[in-house]
Parts: sequence; C-alpha cells; structure tokens
Amino acid sequence: ASTLGASAAEKGRYFGAAVGTYKFNDNTYMTVLNREFNSLVAENEMKWDATEPQRGVFNYSAGDRIVSHARSRGMSVRGHALLWHAQQPGWAQGLSGGDLRNAAINHVTQVATHFRGQIHSWDVVNEAFADGGSGGRRDSNLQRTGNDWIEAAFRAARAADPGAKLCYNDYNTDGINAKSTGIYNMVRDFRSRGVPIDCVGFQSHLGTSIPGDYQANLQRFADLGVDVQITELDVTQGGNQANIYGTVTRACLAVSRCTGITVWGVRDCDSWRGGDNALLFDCAGNKKAAYTAVLDAL
Ligand code: XIL
Repeated sequence: ASTLGASAAEKGRYFGAAVGTYKFNDNTYMTVLNREFNSLVAENEMKWDATEPQRGVFNYSAGDRIVSHARSRGMSVRGHALLWHAQQPGWAQGLSGGDLRNAAINHVTQVATHFRGQIHSWDVVNEAFADGGSGGRRDSNLQRTGNDWIEAAFRAARAADPGAKLCYNDYNTDGINAKSTGIYNMVRDFRSRGVPIDCVGFQSHLGTSIPGDYQANLQRFADLGVDVQITELDVTQGGNQANIYGTVTRACLAVSRCTGITVWGVRDCDSWRGGDNALLFDCAGNKKAAYTAVLDAL
C-alpha cells in the first residue's frame, strides 16, 4: 500500500501519530495526518492536568475532539496517560498519602469511564521506573503512596473500561538494560498474580543509534503474554535516521505481538524535540528518507 496506515494494516498492525488539537486548523498538517495514519494519540489533551484541572472537575473537550476526528476517519485511538509523575494539575502535586491515592484512583476511574469503548489501548501508568542501574521505581508523589499504586491503577482502569488494552509505558527501555528488566519483572509479577495488564509501550525516543537487542527486548516482553507497542517513536536526524526508523519498523513486524507503531508528531516542526528534526515529514509536509525507510519496511 502507499501510506503508512494502509501498509501497516495489511500486516495486521496500526501506524499512528501523536496529535495536538491546536494544529487541527492547519491544512498541511491535517492532509498528512488524514492520509497517512490510522491511529491517533493525544500529545497532551488526555493528561491529568488537561482532564482534571480542578479536583473533581473534568474537562474532556479537547480529548473528545481527537476521539471524534479519529472515529470519523476510521482510526483507532491510544489513550495517554492516566497516571504520570509529570503534567499533574497543581492541586494533585500538593497531595500525598491516602488523599493522593484516592484522587489518583478516582482520576483513573473517571477518565477511563468517560472514554469507555473508544480507546484501543490506555497508557494506564507512564514512566514509573527510574533511569540508571537500579532497576527500581522512580521516586514520585504517586510512588510515595505505596508500591502497589501501579496495580491499583490497572485494576481501576479494567473495571472502568473492560474493553481497552491496558499498557505500562516508559522510555530508555529500548534494549535489555536495568530499567527495562525492572519493568519486565513487574509485568511478570502482575501476570502471575492476575493484575490486569495487557501491553507494554516502548516510547522509543531515540538518538543517533539503536541498541542491537531492540527486537530481542520486545520479544522477551511478548513472551510474558502481553502485547508490545512502539508508542512515541522519534529519532534524531543524522546519518542514521532512516536506518533506525527502518530497524524499529522491522523489529515490530518480526514480533507477532507487536501490534503497532506510533510516531510522536507529524512534521519535524510539530515535534517536542525541536531542532532534532526527528519525524517522518519535513516542516512543509514532504516525505523524508525516514518515511521511505518505514514504508519500505512495512
Ligand atoms: C510531551 C509533549 O510532546 C509535549 O508537548 C509536552 O510539553 C511534554 O510532554 N514522554 C511522554 C509524553 O510520555 O507524554 C511526552 O510528551 C514526551 C515524553
């Protein structure tokens, strides 16, 4: 097929992009988005600060707009993200202990209930593991409510939207390392104890190289009985950008439980990574060599 979404669909996968509603009136942006992708994720609009700006006061207008655009075009939607240490509303940043735990679980329940039936996969918990060699949890207000906060979040999400795949999502997990192994051990524990987890997201914010065991790392998670997804792919532009994009795409296709790839934006100028020119389309919406590498790999 001649587009990313249609080619991925032929392989039983989706190919998605992160979007911002503030770009929805940009014709070049919408032309590329509607032509190429068959899955969307909100770059910011479904995060805690956006959806619950005041405690118990929910605002779904921007998130609903993304869902409605996706549905009108037959695209699926990834939900991002129910709980995260970053982009929390100020009121939540000021909470701790049981009060924070209750607020967090209520947030999961309310948001997952609102979007019930419309989300293919939810990032229930984002970035809860520490960088470096510890393999342990990241310190955060949520972590300080007790180590079981992650499983409590997954159970609440399952109860609220039984049809959504529930994912754990993180970065610097692009090969077999202490951080990815810490997550691997958590997923294995959750599966053995019946904690409802269905998928693991690998953000894949990549620089100028990719670990040689990228595919093997995806496969070891898949072998635990969960789906894997590439959830926020972007790659520093340099000599290797197209090759790295191609390598990621081939790795996903080689892992039968790798169900889809999402790039973290449409054009280079839409990217949170600014000068890295990390995406598949240039600022004018033209296809880059990286685009061709992905399409050829699909
Ligand atoms: C980023 C967005 O792209 C920015 O617009 C925002 O200012 C900060 O967050 N990991 C994640 C994403 O899970 O939510 C982040 O998105 C990028 C890193």
